[in-house]
Amino acid sequence: MKRLENKVALITGAGSGMGRAQAVLFAEEGASIIAADINMDGLKKTVEDIEKKGGSAFAVEIDVSDKSSVEEGVRKGLEKYGKIDILSNTAGILDDYKPTLDTPEELWDKIMSVNLKGVYFMTNAVLPQMIEREEGTIVNIASIAAFVAGGGGAAYTSAKHAIAGYTKQLSFDYGKKGIRVNAIAPGAVETGMTKEIFEEGSADVMDAVKSVPAGRYGQPEEIARVALFLVSEESSFMHGAIVPVDGGWIVK
Ligand SMILES: NC(=O)c1ccc[n+]([C@@H]2O[C@H](COP(=O)([O-])OP(=O)(O)OC[C@H]3O[C@@H](n4cnc5c(N)ncnc54)[C@H](O)[C@@H]3O)[C@@H](O)[C@H]2O)c1
Repeated sequence: MKRLENKVALITGAGSGMGRAQAVLFAEEGASIIAADINMDGLKKTVEDIEKKGGSAFAVEIDVSDKSSVEEGVRKGLEKYGKIDILSNTAGILDDYKPTLDTPEELWDKIMSVNLKGVYFMTNAVLPQMIEREEGTIVNIASIAAFVAGGGGAAYTSAKHAIAGYTKQLSFDYGKKGIRVNAIAPGAVETGMTKEIFEEGSADVMDAVKSVPAGRYGQPEEIARVALFLVSEESSFMHGAIVPVDGGWIVK
C-alpha cells in the first residue's frame, strides 16, 4: 500500500523547487494534489509531471500573502477533492541577504507577508475541516535561518525563526485534536530560489555552501522525502519538531 493512499495534499509553492518535488513525490505515494502557487506556468508543469506518472493533481492560483486569494483557492481545492488531509506550507521568497539597515520597510513587509503571514493564512483556511475530522498533518518549510544567522538577511531570518515558533504553538494548541504539525529546516538546496546564486555566486558563497559536512548543496527531492515522512503515519509520534535537512550546516 502506498503511504498517502486516499489522502489529499495541498502544497503551496508547488510551481517550483521543493514544492514541486513534494507534489510529485506525494502523488507517487497515492495522494491527490492541490498544487498552489502564484506562478501558473510553473504549476502547469507540476501537474503535467504528476499526470504523466498516472497521478491526480489540480492547479490553483493562490497568493499566500492575500487572505481572500487563500480562502478562494482553498475553497476550490475542497470543491475538487472534498477534503484536505495534508498541508505543506512551502511558498517563500528570499530577501537577498540584506542586513537590517539595508532593508526598506517594503521589503520587510513583503518577506513577512509571504514567509510568515502566508503560512498563518493557509493554516487558518485549511485547519477547521481537519479539526472537524480529527486528523491532519501540516509541514512548514522553514530554513536553517530558523536556527542560525546568515541563511538569509534580517527579515528572512526573523520570519523563519517565527515559523519555528508558530509550528510549535500549532502543535501545542491542536495536537490533542488529531493534528500533527512539524517543520523542515533545509540548508542550501538547488531550486529556483538559489539557481542564480549557485551559478553566478562569488567564491565566498560557494565556499560557505560546500563547507558543510555533506560537502555539497542539496536537491529538492532530498527535502521532499523528509516531508513525506513528516506527513505520513511513519512519523506518528512527532509533534512540533523542526527537522534540519541541511547537509550538516548547523553543526558547524
Ligand atoms: N532553496 C534553498 O536553499 C532554501 C533553503 C532553506 C529554505 N528554503 C525555503 O524553501 C521554500 C521553497 O523554496 P524553493 O527553494 O523551492 O524556491 P523556489 O523559488 O524554487 O519556489 C518557491 C515557490 O513559491 C512561489 N511563491 C512565491 N511567492 C508566493 C506567493 N505569494 N504565493 C504563492 N506562491 C508563492 C514561487 O512562485 C515559487 O514557485 C521557501 O519557503 C524557502 O524559503 C529554501
